[in-house]
Amino acid sequence: MSDWYRDFANSGVGTTITRQFGLPRPAVLRRYEPGEPLLPGPAVIGTAGGGRLRDALTRLLRDAGVPVLSPVAADGSDDGERPAAVLLDATGVTGPGQLAAAHDFLAPAVKRLRASGRVLILADPPSATDSPATAAARQALDGLVRSIGKELLNGSTANLVYVPDGAEASLASPVRFFLSGRSAYVDGQVLTLSAADVPAGEDDETPLAGRVAVVTGAARGIGAAIARVMARDGAHVVAVDVPAAGESLAAVANEIGGTAFQLDITAADAPARLVAHLRERHGGVDVVVHNAGITRDKLLVNMDAARWNSVMAVNLQAQLDITEALLAADGLLRPDARVVCVSSQSGIAGNRGQTNYAASKAGIIGMVRAWAPAFAGRGATINAVAPGFIVTEMTARMPFGTREVGSRINSLQQGGLPVDVAETIAWLSQPGSAGVNGQVVRVCGQSMLGA
Ligand SMILES: NC(=O)c1ccc[n+]([C@@H]2O[C@H](COP(=O)([O-])OP(=O)(O)OC[C@H]3O[C@@H](n4cnc5c(N)ncnc54)[C@H](O)[C@@H]3O)[C@@H](O)[C@H]2O)c1
Repeated sequence: MSDWYRDFANSGVGTTITRQFGLPRPAVLRRYEPGEPLLPGPAVIGTAGGGRLRDALTRLLRDAGVPVLSPVAADGSDDGERPAAVLLDATGVTGPGQLAAAHDFLAPAVKRLRASGRVLILADPPSATDSPATAAARQALDGLVRSIGKELLNGSTANLVYVPDGAEASLASPVRFFLSGRSAYVDGQVLTLSAADVPAGEDDETPLAGRVAVVTGAARGIGAAIARVMARDGAHVVAVDVPAAGESLAAVANEIGGTAFQLDITAADAPARLVAHLRERHGGVDVVVHNAGITRDKLLVNMDAARWNSVMAVNLQAQLDITEALLAADGLLRPDARVVCVSSQSGIAGNRGQTNYAASKAGIIGMVRAWAPAFAGRGATINAVAPGFIVTEMTARMPFGTREVGSRINSLQQGGLPVDVAETIAWLSQPGSAGVNGQVVRVCGQSMLGA
């Protein structure tokens, strides 16, 4: 599905008209293509504070074939190559005064950032200090990065990763994700890493090779995109959907060389049937993506019990029941399993007419956070992905005005694509993402709703 306004705004006549009238000009985003370099140009790394991660970042970029420029002079006089990424290592800041160095580095560097560029800030977590001044400086970076995201043009993004002492090994996977085209629609996000055993030597092209991945709701929309991206990245996908969607489910499974498994995830015997299928056919499971979801919108005062109950059953209770059954099935869920639960921006911001849906999607976030320590204990992870406005058949059916407003009120001025959600889920499913656990990643182009 194309974005008519973005295509118009980037056409010859459209560029003139949008400039003249000061209209938004949504960029064509840089999206991941296998075989492409991590970044389309060099990166620049600056520090504010001790620079604990600077050497590791430089090595990581050089290993990925990315040239590292020296920081631009504060007066902008350096007329060398323009960076495709600006990285600030702000670890070690102990008070607000040191943030002046962040400003001194970022202002000229961001000015020179290329289109579809990346700003990535790394810092110590505010929660890991007793000092109010230190916590203030660390938390200040949160406001800084979210504001940079709102100022950037041309499809560029800004994100922040908090890296506790001891979690340095967890850094590579999120840094690669945020710099790459996989994170095209992930903007203004703040993640906190944890220390984990991260396997070495992951293959960048097929990071999911040899993994068995279950994807629910895979017959269409975002679920079908997740199945395709997982298969592209090397996984064998068990595509799950209701029997009524059997034909399109089979088409998706055939296309990607996966397995179709017809299952209503709310049926009383669904967890047991899934466990039996995975044990008999695959001997175990490495990745579980709880994507199936439904909406039954009505204002609370008009909402009947059927609408409330069906949304809770599909969106929340089934995720709980299936995850519990997989954990309880001896040896079925691999020790380094990855579980990714699809939440929604509605679960963070709330939405008129969606009390049932927003409650179910907020519930997912509570569930993920509560389960995260137990998952970490076995070398596994569980995370939530919260999509914002994603261009699907569902959103295409919205009235024109609602759809246009809904898709533009974000920093990237456009709706995301199913593949953007899929790339984020596939990244969280990688063995190398062991240090990303209990997190909520919004794929929303930095939506102004609930921001
Ligand atoms: N499209 C968006 O803008 C958007 C935004 C935020 C969150 N989400 C979430 O992303 C997920 C996918 O959304 P989508 O837009 O692709 O929806 P969709 O309606 O196109 O696809 C959902 C799929 O889930 C399946 N499903 C429904 N009930 C099921 C059940 N009981 N058992 C098994 N399968 C079942 C459906 O048959 C369908 O194939 C959902 O969880 C949704 O809440 C979507």
